[in-house]
Amino acid sequence: MINFVDNCFFLEGKDISYVMRIDKAGHLLGCYFGRKIARAAMQEVPDRFYCWMSWGEDGDVLDEKPQEAPTYGHTDLRCPIVSFKDRVCVLKYKTHRIYDGKGEIEGLPSSYDDEGKAQTLEIDLEDAAQGILVTLFYTVFDNRNTVARHIEVVNNSGEDVTVDAFYSMCLDFERSDFAETHFAGRWGMEREKVTSPLRRGSFCVSNARGGSGHFMNPFVMLHDCGANERSGDVYSFMLVYSGNHETRIDVDQRFRTRVLQGVNPFDFEKTLKSGEKLSSPESLLTFSHEGFGGMSRALHEFIRENIVRGYWKKRERPILINNWEATYMNFDEEKVLSIARLAKKLGIELFVLDDGWFGKRNYDDSSLGDWYVNYEKLPSGITGIAERIEEIGLKFGLWFEPEMVSPNSDLYRAHPDWAIHAKKIAPALSRNQLVLDLTKKEVRDFIVDAVVTHLKEAKISYVKWDYNRYITDMPYKGYNFDYTIGLYDIFDRITSAAPEVLFEGCSGGGGRFDVGVLCYMPQIWTSDNTDAIERVYIQYGTSFGYPTSTMGSHVTASPNEYTKRQTPMKTRGDVALSGNFGYELDITKLNDEDLKAIAQQTEQCREVRRLVEFGDFYRLADPFSGNIGAWQVVSGDKKESFVCMTRIMFQSNGYYQFIRLDGLKKGAFYKDTYHEDRIYSADELMYRGVIADFPHGDFVTYTMRLVEV
Ligand code: DGJ
Repeated sequence: MINFVDNCFFLEGKDISYVMRIDKAGHLLGCYFGRKIARAAMQEVPDRFYCWMSWGEDGDVLDEKPQEAPTYGHTDLRCPIVSFKDRVCVLKYKTHRIYDGKGEIEGLPSSYDDEGKAQTLEIDLEDAAQGILVTLFYTVFDNRNTVARHIEVVNNSGEDVTVDAFYSMCLDFERSDFAETHFAGRWGMEREKVTSPLRRGSFCVSNARGGSGHFMNPFVMLHDCGANERSGDVYSFMLVYSGNHETRIDVDQRFRTRVLQGVNPFDFEKTLKSGEKLSSPESLLTFSHEGFGGMSRALHEFIRENIVRGYWKKRERPILINNWEATYMNFDEEKVLSIARLAKKLGIELFVLDDGWFGKRNYDDSSLGDWYVNYEKLPSGITGIAERIEEIGLKFGLWFEPEMVSPNSDLYRAHPDWAIHAKKIAPALSRNQLVLDLTKKEVRDFIVDAVVTHLKEAKISYVKWDYNRYITDMPYKGYNFDYTIGLYDIFDRITSAAPEVLFEGCSGGGGRFDVGVLCYMPQIWTSDNTDAIERVYIQYGTSFGYPTSTMGSHVTASPNEYTKRQTPMKTRGDVALSGNFGYELDITKLNDEDLKAIAQQTEQCREVRRLVEFGDFYRLADPFSGNIGAWQVVSGDKKESFVCMTRIMFQSNGYYQFIRLDGLKKGAFYKDTYHEDRIYSADELMYRGVIADFPHGDFVTYTMRLVEV
């Protein structure tokens, strides 16, 4: 609900308030964002004049005021939300509009509301003398604790204007006693939790590698230093964007905190002709006073309900088997079918054919771009193999990496200029491939046509959309933004052409794990690192921002392909069961014991997957700070729960540890169907805890399935 009273805007979500005020001179000032509060006039920050401050003709010293849309260079010398080359700009309130619902952002993905719960506020701020209009968009949802923000710049100046920094939001706090947590990583070890107290100065969580990246996820939390899973104020900022991004946190000379999030300004520039407009990506601001757990559950719900869309939004995801770690590119039709036949017997539901089915691709040095089948490997073609897999009783899925081209490909030989390249420099190779120039319409058309043709011709139920290098040699400043807009055009056209196909995003594992992708593809491959123990850290870190229904999670061979660690089949199954479950190993080489375990796991998955994929997630023990990683999912009606605890290392003469569960119905009783229906009281489980009764040895799990009795 949004109200405008006495020059104050009061925005209210489920348990949150967001308050702003227009001051006498027409500046839009921030007042409050946090726990829901009474709708009443708030104290004004007094006008303060300190030494070395500057004031404008209206007397305002904006360097001293919390602002929603600061500009740089006049009376505020802090980092601005938007800046223009060669000009200082002063924005003042012009008008505003409040309406039910939520619009789209042209060319960019964004959240939506299909329940009639959203209201939107647009505030026009103008530099009338220079003909620059900046509109701020705020959407609140009656049933959510997230505010969706973005901005739009319109050039009405009569001449060209160049925007050279362009964030999506700014939020000023009159305090700095916060800590920040972000999720940093690298290939094979994505989204490690990193926390530090704020200090005076600037800190940027940013990425300039082309996609949102393995290194820094576009998701940052600002929180009370003592916040934990159950209590403390936690703010989170998540960008709906898959390109170069930045979240910047500044603590200024007077210990106030400014948060800015948006397109990474380092390498951004856009010239607008008179009359043109530029829209920023959307930023999602979520708040909870119930610690990290409260914030995550609020954000998970938002992502499940207001980001993910279409046919698969609420559907259980199929148990898949992917041939990548089983065969890499070395397969033929008989091998594929032998895996599929056995998979069917074990209860698996979907076979995914990964890299190597097209052109002359036997290694990573050729054929990207040549999206026609390799008949030597697959004599009956994609249509034939898809049909045969369907006859076996599985659905069929196919891997693509459409944004790329191998220099050794027919596509590159025909169109060398389609690869991204800077002037006078041969483009840098990575994994022996180049990136296609998605700013070119003919390139986008080619990609859409190549993928959609397969989807129309063959019975394909699933697509894995891979992207395996960073972008280099971008020819101009601002190119990455244009590339990302081109990417979204492709995503939109392809996913709309095949609305019932399940798309899974991928980028060397989780190198493009962001809500921009999730607006088109309901799930993403979490990491190429499938070692069950390292996955505990990766999935735990990922869970702060993203719900389990978005995380691909597979059982692979032991020793693990990448880490060579040996882990029990049960551990691999239990950790993978905590996401979108699947397999990625040569099951035809397994012994009977492992095959039996797989048959049981697929049955177990069918029993818990609705709960796991769509339930409320609670983190119970942090592997980043102890020897146990534990989490729990509770169904919306609290009648059922799945608990997964992993002990990393066995410790000699160790002791029993109690892990306190969460989210159950106080006063109720539950039976643990994994341990002979043993009955527990919810109160004991939540307030005393459960003994994590791990078996002997390293890398072991203890799971529970609780059903209310
Ligand atoms: C990287 C992905 O993350 C893997 O799962 C696999 O699909 C390979 N690419 C194939 O090249």
